[in-house]
Amino acid sequence: MIPLIEVQHVNKAFGGLQVINDCSINVEKGSITGMIGPNGAGKSTLFNLIAGALTPDSGRVILDGEDITALSADQRFHRGLLRTFQIAHEFSQMSALENLMMVPPRQAGESLFSTWFKPGQVREEEAQVRRRALEVIEFVGLHHVRNELAGNLSGGQKKLLELGRTMMTDAKVVLLDEIAAGVNRTLLGDLIGNIERLNREMGYTFLVIEHDMDMIARLCDPVIVLAQGSVMVEGHIQDIQNNPDVIEAYFGTDAA
Ligand SMILES: Nc1ncnc2c1ncn2[C@@H]1O[C@H](COP(=O)(O)OP(=O)(O)OP(=O)(O)O)[C@@H](O)[C@H]1O
Ligand SMILES: [Mg+2]
Repeated sequence: MIPLIEVQHVNKAFGGLQVINDCSINVEKGSITGMIGPNGAGKSTLFNLIAGALTPDSGRVILDGEDITALSADQRFHRGLLRTFQIAHEFSQMSALENLMMVPPRQAGESLFSTWFKPGQVREEEAQVRRRALEVIEFVGLHHVRNELAGNLSGGQKKLLELGRTMMTDAKVVLLDEIAAGVNRTLLGDLIGNIERLNREMGYTFLVIEHDMDMIARLCDPVIVLAQGSVMVEGHIQDIQNNPDVIEAYFGTDAA
């Protein structure tokens, strides 16, 4: 196994609350790895530590062999580590297509010099971004609503657009935090199909937090169970669903 992401002995506390507790995980290159666990287990916190929105108290985060623990979220983004974000309020008044065209390129940002001295090149870059956005919007099945304001899209269509935004750059790994929540079954099917295609055809690795067990079972192998900030068990979904510790964590007397 070649790990793309390695989380090594990471700790994170908020005030006196130890939320991530000597946590170590590996996400294999080319996998769609699932992450489940009870509410408050620390899943989103772990994502924030991987993506760089939070810094660990101790431990390391490795991306493709490189220690990225000290890097900002932006620097991680430029190394191909992406997470989806809800379409921000200020982008809801832009069209779906414009939302894709807004994603900053992973290569060095546009410099003032090129704007001043090479207008032709800038126009060509804009045309390239537009072509790419049109390809992406076709890929995620939103071509028919490309000119709609993002704010007017349905919940599921917004999720497809968020996934599309990760395709405007060449992502290595995409973190998805509960993207199925509130999405209707038809669009959820599209979303799953698109994740599988990105994985198969474009080599994306995914780490997926989800409460929807059908989606996890369809999409993810392996699945990591997080409980109280550490890995409880990792394996194939069938083994996990039959694991007594996992059943206890979800349905134990305390949780009930
Ligand atoms: N910024 C913060 N400040 C203080 N406490 C926090 C902060 N972020 C998260 N927590 C706490 O850390 C714990 C883990 O939260 P986290 O959001 O990571 O859980 P989760 O596994 O994603 O849960 P859910 O399934 O409900 O999304 C919770 O007790 C939460 O209240
Ligand atoms: Mg969460």
